[in-house]
Amino acid sequence: MQTRQLGYSDLEFSTVGLGTWAIGGGEWKFGWGEQNDQQSIEAIHKAIDLGVNWIDTAAVYGLGHAEEVVGRALKDISANERPLIATKCSRVEREEGAIGGELKRASVIAECEDSLRRLQIETIDLYQLHWPDPDEDIEEGWQAIADLKKQGKVRYIGVSNFNRAQLERIQPIHPVASLQPPYSMIARDVEDDLLDFCGREKIGVICYSPMGKGLLTGGFTRDRAANLPSNDHRSRDPKFQEPLLSLNLNFVERLQPIADAQNRSMAELAIAWVLRRPELTAAIVGVRTPDQIAGTAPGGNWNLSEAEIAEIDKAISARDEALAELGDIDSGRV
Ligand SMILES: NC(=O)c1ccc[n+]([C@@H]2O[C@H](COP(=O)([O-])OP(=O)(O)OC[C@H]3O[C@@H](n4cnc5c(N)ncnc54)[C@H](OP(=O)(O)O)[C@@H]3O)[C@@H](O)[C@H]2O)c1
Repeated sequence: MQTRQLGYSDLEFSTVGLGTWAIGGGEWKFGWGEQNDQQSIEAIHKAIDLGVNWIDTAAVYGLGHAEEVVGRALKDISANERPLIATKCSRVEREEGAIGGELKRASVIAECEDSLRRLQIETIDLYQLHWPDPDEDIEEGWQAIADLKKQGKVRYIGVSNFNRAQLERIQPIHPVASLQPPYSMIARDVEDDLLDFCGREKIGVICYSPMGKGLLTGGFTRDRAANLPSNDHRSRDPKFQEPLLSLNLNFVERLQPIADAQNRSMAELAIAWVLRRPELTAAIVGVRTPDQIAGTAPGGNWNLSEAEIAEIDKAISARDEALAELGDIDSGRV
């Protein structure tokens, strides 16, 4: 698989990274329903066979469970094939299962130790602040992970879900190696100016939910959306409910022939589309089974033609118009 340099770092990331949110399972507030750990491990091994050379996880996914599963998967991989590991801190469990932001130094340092233990590794390749929450503590949290880098516990440091003003506040404390924002054909806010800014500042961009949490894979139906179990957080996400659901499914139907013409999957098209931007280092692709990564990984090697991009742009404009006609509706947080 193609690789790209992560921002100013010396890390070369495959254009598809393996996302482990769903691998955390359904036992917490933002779960993805039941998940079989053995299948998760097989999916991780399959991804590596397919050329994926890095994994994105987070302490909060399954409240530590995703990191534990990654740690178990790593045990069976020889040292020269070991993927790079990116994880995140700063989302913690509060009373009654609520999830909140915590950027105080002592918490960030303790979270890093916990992640190293669960992952069973000595150094985290990329350590990220998961959310800029609470905003007034971002400098404290950033200084804490900069110190972890100095101590050799982590190799590079980045952030997720930060806006430009927040990036500008922390850059002088320590250069930011990467930003992890949402980006897909149905979530394009980063195009406003964050991508340009990151390109100029040599901040790598590793985007999440490139397939709209599964909506852009061609595998989603009205029936599936209506029957999402209550421990799958997507059952509460407006994108998976009317009127947005029909808007999104019609959009996919319009795009499917572009993928079919190249004998590729719709999921690959969604991934190739975000990767058309040179500021992108990689797309983080959510995985639950070996078959899923087999259906998505080739998207990391698909360079869309100008004609294909123009055709997709037309479909995006049509969706934007239909969305505007719906008026002011809640399109949900990521
Ligand atoms: N930093 C953050 O705040 C943040 C937020 C969100 C995500 N992330 C990271 O980014 C990763 C990716 O984002 P995401 O998981 O939200 O969304 P995504 O990659 O857009 O979608 C992933 C989902 O698509 C479905 N899928 C995957 N391969 C498929 C295939 N070949 N055919 C059909 N369906 C397929 C699976 O769901 P089903 O099997 O259930 O259909 C899978 O869980 C996460 O795992 C996580 O590591 C980070």
